Amino acid sequence: MTNTRPLPTREQDAAVAPMIDHDLQRQVFVCTAKSCAANGSEAVLEAFRSQLMEESLLFFKGNQTGPVHCGHCGSVGFCAIGPAVLVYPDGVWYAHVTPSDVPEIIASHLKGGVPVERLVRKRLG
Ligand code: FES
Repeated sequence: MTNTRPLPTREQDAAVAPMIDHDLQRQVFVCTAKSCAANGSEAVLEAFRSQLMEESLLFFKGNQTGPVHCGHCGSVGFCAIGPAVLVYPDGVWYAHVTPSDVPEIIASHLKGGVPVERLVRKRLG
């Protein structure tokens, strides 16, 4: 059965959510749920955001040409091995990430396309 409720058009949505038309290359999600937060995930998130910002790679309201969106997420089941960091569209899930790992993940994976294998614990797809 088809849901016939009225929706805005894609163009109407893009007018209020411009990232619809933006050419994002990757998304980084840092888990900030209880266990990962207890192991310092907020500092990991800040390390990603600040370095991506410094390198003009971060997509945000002030830089809508940035190729990387970075945000937080809830628990993904890596609670005992966090902080967890997920990178899409690659479907690569990192564990045990610290702020000192962030420059390597950005250089190798986000810029170079090569995941940091020593921290990879899951791949989707
Ligand atoms: S709290 Fe981060 S994976 Fe569960």
